[in-house]
Amino acid sequence: MKHKVIVTGGCGYIGSHTVVELIENNYEVVILDDLSNSSIETIGRIEKITGVKPIFINIDLKEEAKVNAVFKEHKDALAVINFAAYKAVGESVNKPIMYYKNNLYALLNTLSAQLENGINGFIFSSSATVYGTPNKLPITEKNETQRPFSPYGNTKKIAEEILDDFTKATENFTAISLRYFNPIGAHESGLIGELPSGIPNNLMPYITQTAVGIREKLMVYGNDYPTKDGTPIRDYIHVVDLAKAHVLAVERILNKKQEENFEIFNLGTGKGFSVLDVINSFEEVTNSKLNYEITERRPGDVPELYAATDLAKEKLGWSANKTLNEMISSSWEWEQKLRAKLQ
Ligand code: WQD
Repeated sequence: MKHKVIVTGGCGYIGSHTVVELIENNYEVVILDDLSNSSIETIGRIEKITGVKPIFINIDLKEEAKVNAVFKEHKDALAVINFAAYKAVGESVNKPIMYYKNNLYALLNTLSAQLENGINGFIFSSSATVYGTPNKLPITEKNETQRPFSPYGNTKKIAEEILDDFTKATENFTAISLRYFNPIGAHESGLIGELPSGIPNNLMPYITQTAVGIREKLMVYGNDYPTKDGTPIRDYIHVVDLAKAHVLAVERILNKKQEENFEIFNLGTGKGFSVLDVINSFEEVTNSKLNYEITERRPGDVPELYAATDLAKEKLGWSANKTLNEMISSSWEWEQKLRAKLQ
């Protein structure tokens, strides 16, 4: 019999890639999504890639009674992976209440519905943003967390604190938080990828949209940081590598391999690349010139972030194996297919 996993936000960027990996590893998947920042078309695309159509339920996780009813119907699920959240850093600064409500009500309603229905495993989509400005590199899971710059980031930090309390108070309930560094790239099929609504905040979609002609030029936010070329350094990670880590986290929970009821793992490659490194690699991979200009620093940007990856390797048996060039070429492929389809 297939193990059932509920995936909230399963139509989104990282969610959809994880659903594909789960199906390919023989899990039955139930997607809960309100499509507020994703498209129903993703379901058909997942089916095209895997040959299996996941169960889809359109639901706003802020609606507690509805969440309970759905979890009751799927109480044979063994674990939940929680991707459902708003994630635009800048928007969260302007609309903090909307972010706290959406991201935290969804989490609380999911956890209480799990409790009610005896679904005892939980995987949380967290972020390296909880480390704030790190005082030590590479960042290990033991690095202290700081209040993130944005309300978005703070919802991730608060969510982890809630999970810490909840797993302590709830016997048998186990959770894993996965702290992503900078996810980019797309599935090799070119059928699923990142679909930012409006003007992208993140570097990679901004680059590909500029190259395809939707944006006039990329603004590089500052070249006076204390790094090799003055631009900030990040740990970019292929979304498919990231997705595979979720399957391993589910297995760790189902096989009762956890050493503590609440575990935290960094998901990164351990390698840092500057903004100019990414631009140069993009130009090399696509054999084209990118229109960009150096401008002011963006408030809240940290000079340098990259992960220590040992813990995920040792405990989850996971490490990233896709290169920056593979990340860039798959993002580019996705962008081109997307635009060809929209025209
Ligand atoms: C990377 C670098 C920018 C855009 C954010 C969130 C984090 C996570 C991932 C998402 C920085 C520079 C960017 C542009 C630029 N969450 N840049 N011009 O800020 O590391 O992390 O996204 O859900 O929580 O904080 O990623 O891609 O925005 O920026 O120069 O137009 O690219 O200054 O140095 P960031 P990013």
